Amino acid sequence: MNTRLLQKYNKPGPRYTSYPPATFFHDGINADHYRNMLVKSNTQHPENISVYIHIPFCKQLCHFCGCNTSCYPSADFIEEYIETLIKEIESVSELLDKSRPLTQIHWGGGTPNSIDLAHVKRVMEVLLDKFQPAAKAEIAMECNPAYLEPEHIDQLAAMGFNRLSLGIQDFNEEVLKLVNRKPSKYPVEELIARMKANNMDGVNIDLIYGLPGQTPASFRNTIEKAIAISPDRLVTFSYAHVPWVKSAQKKLEEIGLPSVEDKLAMFETAYDLLTQKGYEAIGMDHYAKPGDELSVALKNKKLHRNFQGYCTQETTGQVYGFGASSISQLQGGYYQNKKDTRQYIDQLNNNGFATDKGYEVSKQDIIRRTVINEIMCNGFLDFDEMAKVFKISTDELKIVVGYNDEKLQDFIKDNLLKIDGNTIKLLENGFLVVRNIAMEFDPLLSQGKGQYSKTV
Ligand SMILES: C[S@@+](CC[C@H](N)C(=O)[O-])C[C@H]1O[C@@H](n2cnc3c(N)ncnc32)[C@H](O)[C@@H]1O
Ligand code: SF4
Repeated sequence: MNTRLLQKYNKPGPRYTSYPPATFFHDGINADHYRNMLVKSNTQHPENISVYIHIPFCKQLCHFCGCNTSCYPSADFIEEYIETLIKEIESVSELLDKSRPLTQIHWGGGTPNSIDLAHVKRVMEVLLDKFQPAAKAEIAMECNPAYLEPEHIDQLAAMGFNRLSLGIQDFNEEVLKLVNRKPSKYPVEELIARMKANNMDGVNIDLIYGLPGQTPASFRNTIEKAIAISPDRLVTFSYAHVPWVKSAQKKLEEIGLPSVEDKLAMFETAYDLLTQKGYEAIGMDHYAKPGDELSVALKNKKLHRNFQGYCTQETTGQVYGFGASSISQLQGGYYQNKKDTRQYIDQLNNNGFATDKGYEVSKQDIIRRTVINEIMCNGFLDFDEMAKVFKISTDELKIVVGYNDEKLQDFIKDNLLKIDGNTIKLLENGFLVVRNIAMEFDPLLSQGKGQYSKTV
């Protein structure tokens, strides 16, 4: 795909990790709504339970960070946080049907691997006691390799972790210095070998393009190094610049961000090198080896997505979030906890729940969410089949998602998708602008809630 086309489609838009996007969450949703929906979720689809644990602490804050995190607190505060997290798990699990299988546990942050692993072990024991883990449950943690010791990998494996994601961001240490980040403490090859020795099959590397100091040539070196290390999966995040939400990002403007042309060239270089080396492109920014579950799911049109990234429809369930700022993603709605850790602890200890805001979905939202997910994940939509799922006519479905043939003409002309009768299929380059295509099926977008980062 040429830079001109990428530039044409490079405009602000949601990432659609939820539908509607988190900018629609409102404070009319409280703990009572969450409690009711927890009970309802037992009879809703999917039956599987996914758990998300949020650890919002980092030893050093990266200037680019868009995550919900904060400076490292005292050991006592971390202990209080973990105690509260356990209380939350107990309150929620009491309302959930014990026969539902726990298929996924995801630890994110912040830097979950920076806390004493004895805390992680305690929480895991409570989870495995309160829920019914499936035989092949996926247990993952996002790790910052600056704080990852090889022995930690053995300890995490002994607790049942089978997937670790390493936040590399860039192998170039000059770039890391500019964004206030430490490099991996050990050679990444050594960490990955240790994971493999522990039979972990889902080794992932996160990279970001669009940071100060990066050039297309320097990012090429980073991608080549990543390919040489051969992770099972790799993500190249487009740096999301949202200084109106994350004021630390203003520092990156002062240092100097790469030009739009350079940023797009980095994206293209990564895409070309990774796909030439046999990685399958998944969605807009993920890559996986051909035998990886994500690649297989994409082939079978069974790819799914939640706030934690791409996943397969088999393993993922309704997501129950624990910890400050965590979001529960249930069939009936989204429920986000207080972001401030002190408020989270106090509210949870007073009420048993710390819901801050959320959004309960209507039938129309569910239809739009399913359509947008199909496009974002599988690059395919059969209007007739989808209408059957929702027991409405194809014309009614088109009205709900605000669709008309005219809307997609530009994408067709640019060879990004094709329409065949009542089906829409993204062509190879279509995934590069998949957020733009999804936006055409989102009538709520015109309400203009919140500002979004650019799509490429
Ligand atoms: C919670 S962080 C990862 C865990 C760990 N704290 C670390 O930094 O390695 C998840 C990922 O989000 C990505 N990320 C963070 N801020 C971002 C931003 N502003 N734009 C795009 N990606 C971002 C990074 O690639 C990071 O690895
Ligand atoms: S990128 Fe990771 S380590 Fe850096 S501040 Fe964000 S959560 Fe913390």
